[in-house]
Amino acid sequence: MPRFSKSVSALRSSAIRELMSLAARPDMISFAGGMPGNDLFPINEVEELFKGLDTRTKQSAFQYGPTPGLPSLLESLGSYLEGKGLPVGNDRLMITTGSQQGLSILGKVFVDPGDRVLTEYPCFIGAIAAFRSSGAKIVSIPVDEEGLDIDMLRQEAARPDPAKFLYITPYFHNPAGMLYTSERKLELVEAIQGRDIPLIEDDAYGDLWFSEEDRDRLVPIKATDPEGIDICYMGSFSKILGPGLRLGWLLAPPAIYEKCELIKQSADACSPSFSQVIADAFIRSGKIDGYVVKVREAYRRRAACMAEALRKHLPEYVRWNEPKGGFYIWLTLPEGADATPILKLTIEHGAVFVIGSTFDPDGSRNDTMRLSYCNNTPEEIERGIPIIADAIRKICG
Ligand SMILES: Cc1ncc(COP(=O)(O)O)c(C=O)c1O
Repeated sequence: MPRFSKSVSALRSSAIRELMSLAARPDMISFAGGMPGNDLFPINEVEELFKGLDTRTKQSAFQYGPTPGLPSLLESLGSYLEGKGLPVGNDRLMITTGSQQGLSILGKVFVDPGDRVLTEYPCFIGAIAAFRSSGAKIVSIPVDEEGLDIDMLRQEAARPDPAKFLYITPYFHNPAGMLYTSERKLELVEAIQGRDIPLIEDDAYGDLWFSEEDRDRLVPIKATDPEGIDICYMGSFSKILGPGLRLGWLLAPPAIYEKCELIKQSADACSPSFSQVIADAFIRSGKIDGYVVKVREAYRRRAACMAEALRKHLPEYVRWNEPKGGFYIWLTLPEGADATPILKLTIEHGAVFVIGSTFDPDGSRNDTMRLSYCNNTPEEIERGIPIIADAIRKICG
């Protein structure tokens, strides 16, 4: 028997995988993935952009590149992020192989096996896996519709052995769909200021807002540059261009950046040059702005269609968030309900979603469900939601 490491032994393949493999039938209506709509990818634009590049740039697309990223992309992305008020000049920007790699790097930079880290409950599954693979003990703090529970955060921050960092996804949360209020972000900052708890601010969906009214709430904490907190701000091209590029970014204070660069060097030497050349051309051509407007509109329509179907079909005892942006709607069942038999029944009738325990670092709380609307036609949404609503009624009464 190979002698595996403790950290890999702590990673479990979830029992739900078997059930999900049944959901791979081609006729299945899937509200499970967080995958952008295939129909939205900018295939023609990218073909044109690549054709228009000079030979040297095309060659560099096939070549190894510097570990922190291609200088040209660091420059164009830096300007794009500066446009959002981010302090690109004071901090250091690094291209990562998806923002998933950023999470994995930060886990390695901060965590020794057994160290405590703070996340939200519910929490993005990729973050749970990344931190756990470094041996982290995850302490999750619940979120409500305005953000993290501040009393619990204060208690954690006051401990003599504070956690190694706090990880949050304040903008169209995965899976809870919600958007932090500006007040809650301020309270969060005050709770950890001067406590030696770095903040990891994950902003994978912030560009996908549906209403101008919410723009104020989308200003990153990193952009407000609060004193006494090291903030590692992460973003991704995945939801605004395509996850197949595997490109994300990390903006971190210089001392943290230096450690991250060392870890990245040992992980993959550099992120895909081909993708970086494409992303750079996309930003420099100015196409990114129009494209983001287009996908934002498409997701807004899909979200409205799903919200309409939920209003029409769900029993009243199911609580859910009216989507303000991003990809997800989070359903909360009556207390004590179990989403797994609902999933089983839903799959039998041709639709699939993700059960709540997937996003619980303890893997226990399961009275919630995540639905994504990002990759579905209105017709699929209108056919699929009644299947889910019927299954909820059959199981919960
Ligand atoms: C909140 C959040 N962060 C990070 C990621 C990772 O994205 P990627 O590695 O494709 O950039 C995702 C993907 O679903 C996500 O939902």
